[in-house]
Amino acid sequence: MKAVVITSPGGPEVLQLQEVSDPEIRDDEVLIRVAATALNRADTLQRKGSYPPPKGASSYPGLECSGTIEAVGKNVTRWKIGDEVCALLSGGGYAEKVAVPAGQVLPVPPGVSLKDAASFPEVACTVWSTVFMMSRLATGETFLIHGGSSGIGTFAIQMAKYLGIKVFVTAGNEEKLAACKDLGADVCINYKTEDFVARVKEETGGKGVDVILDNIGAAYFQRNLDSLNIGGRLFIIGFMGGTVTEANLVGLLARRLTVQAAGLRNRSAENKAEIVTDVEKNVWAAIQAGKVKPVVYKYLPLAEAAEAHRLMESSNHIGKILLVP
Ligand SMILES: NC(=O)c1ccc[n+]([C@@H]2O[C@H](COP(=O)([O-])OP(=O)(O)OC[C@H]3O[C@@H](n4cnc5c(N)ncnc54)[C@H](OP(=O)(O)O)[C@@H]3O)[C@@H](O)[C@H]2O)c1
Repeated sequence: MKAVVITSPGGPEVLQLQEVSDPEIRDDEVLIRVAATALNRADTLQRKGSYPPPKGASSYPGLECSGTIEAVGKNVTRWKIGDEVCALLSGGGYAEKVAVPAGQVLPVPPGVSLKDAASFPEVACTVWSTVFMMSRLATGETFLIHGGSSGIGTFAIQMAKYLGIKVFVTAGNEEKLAACKDLGADVCINYKTEDFVARVKEETGGKGVDVILDNIGAAYFQRNLDSLNIGGRLFIIGFMGGTVTEANLVGLLARRLTVQAAGLRNRSAENKAEIVTDVEKNVWAAIQAGKVKPVVYKYLPLAEAAEAHRLMESSNHIGKILLVP
């Protein structure tokens, strides 16, 4: 088969489509013929050599895909050859075929094309497992999403609105904020021209929001704490603004705040399967109801993976970038 190989750590040009061996499936895995894969920020870090795949995972990038099942392991009961599915991967999505544990496979959501289904597994599992499963974000609460126009953000806005949550977003330009508004965001903040803490306070009568989904880390840590309501929860999923900071912790005690962080890729297959089951139950219903739609910025051929990485690193995109073998 053909796969995108990281020929050495470096810039987008190190991504090259090459002829490689087909993956072999274990007894609890299925083989998917890939219809599409989607980019994630983590892929750019893996390409640079700073985010190696977990032990046992494919060395090719790609954390999600959609496609058709081509073979099933002997312990797999739910899936059969010919099923159209999408899947959460530990790697290997940038290829014509990928092997994946059966517990990380989902049916293509009703009403979504086979190709576009590749845009959901990573964002749905990340957002659902963090702010919903761990931070218990609930109907009637307020929710601030940093990077509202990102792949993660465009999904999180729609899912939260479906569940009756008031959504605040930050983004870096007016076009991105307009896209967030179209997806249902209630309060859209341009972090380059406005102080998000002041705006959050103003919009919440001085209280702050109940939950924050943060991809910035250190650079926002103090301001995130300052933006939280009593009982507020900060969930950190990325460190685009660094990992080391100093903070005044008084608010944590006075307002009984919780700070959590988690990554999806390094969880065990069992843990990923639990998340996938919960996502199918809770998120697939929202997609079926037409309340959560794929937000695809661009489709590119798999051979143009380098171009796709350049686009993601420009941060000019809104939503997901898909690669099609
Ligand atoms: N923990 C996990 O399991 C997990 C899983 C998936 C993703 N993530 C993290 O979630 C975040 C979003 O992921 P994604 O794949 O949805 O990414 P994405 O679509 O590329 O979006 C990232 C966004 O971050 C904003 N940004 C903020 N600071 C930036 C900077 N210094 N350079 C470039 N962009 C910056 C950009 O929007 P503005 O122009 O508005 O700033 C950009 O649109 C990433 O940090 C990713 O690592 C974590």
